Amino acid sequence: MTLDGWRARWLALRNRVLASPAFQRGAARFPLTRPIARRRARALFELVAGFTYSQTLFACVTTGLIDALANRPLATNEVAARTGLPEPGADRLLKAATAIGVVERVGDRWTLGKHGAALRGNPGIAAMVAHHAALYTDLADPVALLQRGGGGGALSRYWSYAESPGAGGAAEVAAYSRLMAASLPMVAEQALAAYPFARHRRLLDVGGGEGAFVAAIGARVPRLSLALFDLPAVAARARESLAAAGLTDRAVIHEGDFTRDSIPQGFDLISLVRILHDHDDEVANALLLRIREALPPGGRLLIVEPMAQTPGAGPAGDAYFGFYLLAMGSGRPRTPREIISMLHGAGFRSGRPIATDLPLIARVIVAER
Ligand SMILES: C[S@@+](CC[C@H](N)C(=O)[O-])C[C@H]1O[C@@H](n2cnc3c(N)ncnc32)[C@H](O)[C@@H]1O
Repeated sequence: MTLDGWRARWLALRNRVLASPAFQRGAARFPLTRPIARRRARALFELVAGFTYSQTLFACVTTGLIDALANRPLATNEVAARTGLPEPGADRLLKAATAIGVVERVGDRWTLGKHGAALRGNPGIAAMVAHHAALYTDLADPVALLQRGGGGGALSRYWSYAESPGAGGAAEVAAYSRLMAASLPMVAEQALAAYPFARHRRLLDVGGGEGAFVAAIGARVPRLSLALFDLPAVAARARESLAAAGLTDRAVIHEGDFTRDSIPQGFDLISLVRILHDHDDEVANALLLRIREALPPGGRLLIVEPMAQTPGAGPAGDAYFGFYLLAMGSGRPRTPREIISMLHGAGFRSGRPIATDLPLIARVIVAER
């Protein structure tokens, strides 16, 4: 019998035991197995009830509760006044938020808990939570979503390019561009700590959004010349925000559609930040090919995004991004191994992962032409 055959047999036996009510009762009663039984019961309950925690967090963010508690502890009636909730509603929310670590009780008042404080320090997370309204709508019937093969809902309308590559006028790109700019700092931080940008002279960020990535890298690497490439409506937003950051003379903005147009040349480093996972294999492979053609020999491509099967962050890849991108209507989370194999397929000489501090937020792969 093969190793997988033995494993399947062992798993069948284990699962029969775990499913048995008598075993479950015994494990919960016996003092030595009780802690394990409690841990397992709690973990299963988290799976059963997780969406209520997410919606509690959603209410904390969208009522302004997090901001309200940021400066000083408040009494329930003050929270009610600040959030516009009736007092019993505020009380219910505060208790729920306390139970999940977003709020903490101090005497008869309330302040931010550990998660609330971390959230306050990363405005990008609050923006992500708020935009989950669209994902939540699409996931109301996950089976229907799986059956129709994804897309066709609120999230695919939010990401206008998802189901119509290259699409998006000024109105369509505004919300996602703002969201990306708000959540970019934590991603840029991972890339900056992991990769020596100073070894390069000219950086082009493909799908660079409003320019938050080039601005973040440019601030730490003063001699690097900067450029980005994005759809015309997004490039227009980048022009404004880079001008506001005083970078007009340092950053060149190229507009185009990377599913049709070639990628500008003359850069020894090209980055793809949270781009590849957005696209199905056909589009992603063609993009990698275009980027390889644009790079000089020895030029590098940096891929920065959350990836599948990340140790310690497994559910974030295949569960969260798996369903997120399905609802969006294009793309899939990929493992570093899958990305590296795509890079080789596109003719890159080498591709290797570089460790980041918080791989849950982003992992990095560097490839050389
Ligand atoms: C998920 S966002 C990432 C933005 C930015 N890199 C970041 O991490 O904040 C994807 C970006 O790719 C751009 N994009 C999508 N399809 C594109 C296309 N066909 N050509 C050029 N840019 C495109 C979008 O406009 C958007 O700015």
